[in-house]
Amino acid sequence: MKCRVCRQPAVIDVRRHNAGFCAEHFLRLCRDQVTRAIEEFSMIGPGERVLVAVSGGKDSLAAWDLLTSLGYEADGLYVGLGIGAYSDVSGDHARQFAASRDLRLIEVDLRDRYGFDIPTGARAARRVPCSACGLSKRHVFDRIAVEGGYDVVATGHNLDDEAAVLFGNVLRWQVDYLARQLPVLPERDGFPRKVKPLVRLTEREMAAYCVLRGIDYIVEECPMSAGNKHLGYKEALNAIEQQSPGSKHDFYFGFLARASERFRAGNEADQAALRPCASCGAPTVTEVCAFCRLVERATGERAGGAVPVELNVGSGARPS
Ligand code: AMP
Ligand code: FES
Ligand code: ZN
Ligand code: ZN
Repeated sequence: MKCRVCRQPAVIDVRRHNAGFCAEHFLRLCRDQVTRAIEEFSMIGPGERVLVAVSGGKDSLAAWDLLTSLGYEADGLYVGLGIGAYSDVSGDHARQFAASRDLRLIEVDLRDRYGFDIPTGARAARRVPCSACGLSKRHVFDRIAVEGGYDVVATGHNLDDEAAVLFGNVLRWQVDYLARQLPVLPERDGFPRKVKPLVRLTEREMAAYCVLRGIDYIVEECPMSAGNKHLGYKEALNAIEQQSPGSKHDFYFGFLARASERFRAGNEADQAALRPCASCGAPTVTEVCAFCRLVERATGERAGGAVPVELNVGSGARPS
């Protein structure tokens, strides 16, 4: 197979585009897809400061690399979840990447800052680990973005992730989630915008991107995600994609173009009902937000501002 652009031997076949690409033109394709997503959904404005949430996995490290190569001012944020060796190794990958490119990585360890880790916290709060983990990460992303004056938080969610989540939400007609499943969540009440610049790229493409760019990432999946429904949805969608390349893209982008608006109408009323959490100030519909309730159950203490606000800046950091 030859590169669609230059006719040199291809290193990757992208069936969705019905074309092969050499290394140079594949990397260019990835950058173009990110640029297109950023423009199409108004993700990042000129001069805005971006905080990239990096897990040490391929997607978020690729997202950080892509955003910096496109000229965005983007620092990284790694959250230490305390999931044994998995967290140790993933943190090492994030630090190593930051150091190799002289980028600033902010580190927040859940145990140090809030007094719990995901395995023990989830058990104490009787929550599924992935749900306690998602809740904690979202809270930390918002908090650090506000403290650091970032305009935008970017995550490494790719097309496979978004299509799998959409599939799950449609299977159960979770209309509230469908209303919020967007590549951009606007800023509100002092909270940053959330963006997913990799929505036009797949998991396989991100793995290839990392290999070609020499990015060393953690390959293992989180040990607590075993049996996670989304992994099953991804497999189902991969089987469909195999039969009919482009299905994942059409499913997700068709939803955004033709269906998403219908779910949002009812959701605006819910947004209006948001008020600041009595403990930490994050927007919530209850008096105390779900994260603060999790901290309270996991540690027996209230979160809020009780714990000193301090950033651990990892290796590769530039003084701020
Ligand atoms: P996940 O929730 O594991 O599917 O990850 C989704 C996105 O959240 C990743 O692409 C990252 O951008 C971000 N993320 C996941 N884990 C971490 C972490 N430990 N620290 C910072 N960001 C993370
Ligand atoms: Fe959050 Fe596994 S990364 S539970
Ligand atoms: Zn080429
Ligand atoms: Zn709170």
